Amino acid sequence: MHIRPAADSDLSAITAITNDVIRTTTAMWTDIEATVGDRAAWMKQRITAGYPVLVADSMGEVIGFASYGPYRSGPPGYRYVVEHSIHVARDARGRGVGSQLVTALLDHARQQGLWAMVGGIDALSTASLRMHARLGFVEVGRQPGIGSKFGQRLDLVLMQRAI
Ligand SMILES: CC(C)(COP(=O)(O)OP(=O)(O)OC[C@H]1O[C@@H](n2cnc3c(N)ncnc32)[C@H](O)[C@@H]1OP(=O)(O)O)[C@@H](O)C(=O)NCCC(=O)NCCS
Repeated sequence: MHIRPAADSDLSAITAITNDVIRTTTAMWTDIEATVGDRAAWMKQRITAGYPVLVADSMGEVIGFASYGPYRSGPPGYRYVVEHSIHVARDARGRGVGSQLVTALLDHARQQGLWAMVGGIDALSTASLRMHARLGFVEVGRQPGIGSKFGQRLDLVLMQRAI
């Protein structure tokens, strides 16, 4: 498995992973599935703005992806901080793929001279919380009942790591 920048040919796999996460987890607070066109527009916007979109490639198969973008819609005072996201295909989880993707994002952020990376993580996503803690992220805030999905109120955990 290796981590590399995403290409347009990865968009169908990125879309499939996204939609499986939307359908089966509380990690993304939406019920609206993405189209390949949605993900293409998102990826183009990120890359044009100089942000990374990375994939985990296992013998030609995309088994995860990660990216970061502006924090809180990007007022200038936040320009040294980014918010990241990361998703791994269901049958590839628990084998360190997510950790390698986040580590690659941290390397990229360091090269860009950024100060910190923040993840807004659903409190029920225990694998994500554990992985981020292991990678040196610390909980800096918790917003109780700020979201909802599948008929339940959800808490958001903000985890931050200095670069
Ligand atoms: C969160 C996620 C990205 C982690 O990726 P991953 O490749 O599974 O991560 P890792 O294998 O590096 O670490 C996962 C940790 O959670 C643990 N874990 C517990 N239950 C798990 C499960 N059902 N699946 C995967 N990992 C699980 C692993 O053992 C590991 O902990 P450890 O380091 O203490 O051993 C991935 O599980 C995922 O895509 N989940 C659904 C979407 C999501 O939550 N995205 C994150 C949004 S912030």
